[in-house]
Amino acid sequence: MNLSNNLIVNKSKPLIGLVKIPGDKSISHRSIILGSISSGKLKIKNFLNSDDCLATVSAMKLLGADISFDEDEIIINGIGLDGLKQPNVMLDAGNSGTLIRLLSGILVSQNFTSTLTGDDSLRKRPMARIIDPLVNCGAQISSNNHKAPIVIEKCNGLSPIRYNQSIASAQVKSCLILAALFIKGESTFYEKIPTRDHTENLLQHFNYKIDRSENSLSFKGRQTLIAKDIEIGSDISSAAFFIVAALIVDGSELLFRNININVYRTGLITVLKNMGGNITITNTKLISNELIGDIRVKCSNLKSIHIDGDIIPSLIDELPILFIACALAAGKSTISGIEELRHKESDRIKSMEEGLKSIGIDVNSTEDSIEITGGKILGGKIKSYGDHRIAMSFAVAGLVAQKSITIIDTKNIATSFPTFISLLREQGAEIFEV
Ligand code: S3P
Repeated sequence: MNLSNNLIVNKSKPLIGLVKIPGDKSISHRSIILGSISSGKLKIKNFLNSDDCLATVSAMKLLGADISFDEDEIIINGIGLDGLKQPNVMLDAGNSGTLIRLLSGILVSQNFTSTLTGDDSLRKRPMARIIDPLVNCGAQISSNNHKAPIVIEKCNGLSPIRYNQSIASAQVKSCLILAALFIKGESTFYEKIPTRDHTENLLQHFNYKIDRSENSLSFKGRQTLIAKDIEIGSDISSAAFFIVAALIVDGSELLFRNININVYRTGLITVLKNMGGNITITNTKLISNELIGDIRVKCSNLKSIHIDGDIIPSLIDELPILFIACALAAGKSTISGIEELRHKESDRIKSMEEGLKSIGIDVNSTEDSIEITGGKILGGKIKSYGDHRIAMSFAVAGLVAQKSITIIDTKNIATSFPTFISLLREQGAEIFEV
């Protein structure tokens, strides 16, 4: 996908109506990976056609997966647990931390060597968090000082995994769950702070037997994953930009249908409601073992918030757009326990602080916290540092800015939300690609 490199966004009229949010990114990655190693045929509906998820399709095809596109659906003929083959090139995860970490999980048990790499941003991100626990159960991995490229050697048998969460990360947990699928014997997982459980939900959708409680799970490896069609709910992390836009643009009211509202993903809704946001969720139901629902949002007067602790993983990707909401809320907001934000596609504490200051907002930060005083967004020029969520957050800020906001380096919006600009335009927003 090729979006332009810079955006200019002007103050907007009210945003009113239905916005069609694309499929969930986390579940799209997992559907391709688990579908490929299942047994039988399945269709995937509402797959996210973004650069990150298409990189997952390419990587799995290089590993021998049988994946094809049929109009709006994806069809997979599962090749089973033992069907993967050695790729003849390096596997390129592009900008996607989820892909490189999940893929490492399935590659550690293979009888071939593989190399994984990614773009400039991904090659700077920490990989010790997956390399160390995989090496502890017998994997042989070399890397560039615990960063990509990662070389995963042919396997001589791994011992079952005993995971005791040290970083609240669904990518790390899922990497190890995927590794355990190939390991004989029972692996166990303990999370002090529960994180998104899409991998577990999809495994159960494929009839995989797992013992689960709120903080722990255990299962035997080498069970068959029985292929079954998957319908993916729409991505709350993408909806988040429009949810905040509807709250802050005077006179707005937006509706989003069939949004994935997995309990470990809805921290933003909880926080925005506590800030005074008028948000209602209706029509909840389970599809493909995940909770979905419709979300209606009306423009509201927001007040400041203090958040910390266990809620952070459930809104980790939504923090940049939450900072925009805080910039318009009455009073000073403090958000702490967010050190992980420094390890995303950019250092998001730094990118957001710099951007907010340059459009007239008072911000202070420490290594793991930020303090934002609500005020008026004046307008100006922002560096997105090539980070899709920073770019989209400041595009939303532009909708209420007194003068236009120019955002530099925005083409990575295509990694997660390729229709973001066209959906904003459908709402009548003035957003120009330059
Ligand atoms: C994801 C987990 C989160 C999130 C990322 C997607 C996933 O990362 O930030 O966008 O699909 O498992 P961490 O596990 O590193 O927090």
